[in-house]
Amino acid sequence: MSSPVLDEAARIAQQFDYPAAEVQRGVAEYIREMEEGLAKEGTTLSQIPTFVTEVPNGTEKGLYLAVDLGGTNFRVCSIDLHGDNTFSLTQSKIMIPRELMAAGTSKDLFLFLARQIEAFLRIHHNDHFEAHLLRCREGSKREELFDLGFTFSFPVRQLGINKGTLIRWTKGFDIPDAVGQDVCALLQDAINDLDLPVRVAALVNDTVGTLMARSYTSPDEHGTLLGAIFGTGTNGAYVEKLDKIKKMDSFDTYDDYDKSTGEMVINAEWGSFDNHLSVLPNTKYDQELDADSNNPGVQMFEKRVSGMFLGEILRRALLDMHRNESVNLFKPSETSDVEVPENSGIYKQWGIDTSFLSIVEKDKSAGREQTKTALSDHLRIQRPSDTDCQAVQILVHAIGKRAARLSAVPLGAILISTGKLKKDELVDIGVDGSLVEFYPYFEGYIRDTLKELPEIGAEGEKKVRIGISKDGSGVGAALIALVAAKEDAAKEKVL
Ligand code: GLC
Repeated sequence: MSSPVLDEAARIAQQFDYPAAEVQRGVAEYIREMEEGLAKEGTTLSQIPTFVTEVPNGTEKGLYLAVDLGGTNFRVCSIDLHGDNTFSLTQSKIMIPRELMAAGTSKDLFLFLARQIEAFLRIHHNDHFEAHLLRCREGSKREELFDLGFTFSFPVRQLGINKGTLIRWTKGFDIPDAVGQDVCALLQDAINDLDLPVRVAALVNDTVGTLMARSYTSPDEHGTLLGAIFGTGTNGAYVEKLDKIKKMDSFDTYDDYDKSTGEMVINAEWGSFDNHLSVLPNTKYDQELDADSNNPGVQMFEKRVSGMFLGEILRRALLDMHRNESVNLFKPSETSDVEVPENSGIYKQWGIDTSFLSIVEKDKSAGREQTKTALSDHLRIQRPSDTDCQAVQILVHAIGKRAARLSAVPLGAILISTGKLKKDELVDIGVDGSLVEFYPYFEGYIRDTLKELPEIGAEGEKKVRIGISKDGSGVGAALIALVAAKEDAAKEKVL
């Protein structure tokens, strides 16, 4: 049944359509930006060389530490790699205080992180810790340090396996004095200040960790091509031919690395794909969200795709309808006594969490019961009419579907540009993040969109295996710490 509310919801939803021809344009531009990013520095797609030149095969063994900074929580874990595609993991998780995420100093943040590592060691590896303290007190030089992989999920100009300077903050972090500094050195200094038996062995982006973890746990010989995150932020890392990474020829200062595989993992930082908006869709809600964000003009792809932003796009669309006199969204009428209190999240920037979208999208009930409950729980909106709920569902669906179809752009472009689908029978992709995990049919929409690309088609899409790679950032970081420790030991032998 038509009504002004539903008509307006449909009109707005249409602005989020992202048709096949646009996807193709996006893929062509992505491939262009990929090549530009491999050729020189300072491009919109960073294409960061990671110094990881090999993906694991599942036989790796040992006990490693990993920490993960990049979302709402800071995680510390120890990972025991069993060498048979399996591992055991012990972890602790703590929410990062808001005041440390923005406005504080890098010293405060890194000291906080080191303190969490200390607490973790005391609880889970106290014997090792005490033995180390004793050795220190006795002045012994023999050190038995834990090798730690540092998952730091922000754009970093990487200069070696455990060296990299922060390019810019993303996802709501903003600590100006850290920009340009080597984040591994910042963490190592804070660790040393507390006398912890820990060596920061590897710097890892979460997407690289996801790629490594997926490759370690996959029980067949197919190495993984790509690791991607669709969570608070979005980004991907993939295996590239060394001779295509032209900008490394002109790098001035970076550590030596093993070139024997002829490949290196590239951290694309695709959140910043097409910052100049030559192909990305751009509704007025996207524009407003960007203008009011703390980093306008950057991470433009991420702002249309990832969990941190979808709720805010929806909020702006809902608020627009709510304030529109000619449509009655969430307005009392003869048939509805809906109530929107002043402190409702609908009036506050970032007031809608992405989990709200997943719940609404999942709700197929006739009475839209889950949507009603979510409106009450998340936005304090009481007794919405059925039409209100229907309008919310229309908008949620449009925003979520656009995000998933956009997600197919970098995936499609990397599949095409590496030529992997032509060469191999099966191409493996590891993914992680709340959107792929919880948003209904997110992977399905990605697959539908890949099929629409002429270079991939239904045949190509069948060859793509996408699998969740849980705990990628922990296990992946451990795997890279292992490679780094091995390389270090090899170098010491030569000396
Ligand atoms: C942001 C970060 C990137 C990270 C992604 C997913 O885009 O810049 O480094 O991989 O979020 O967490």
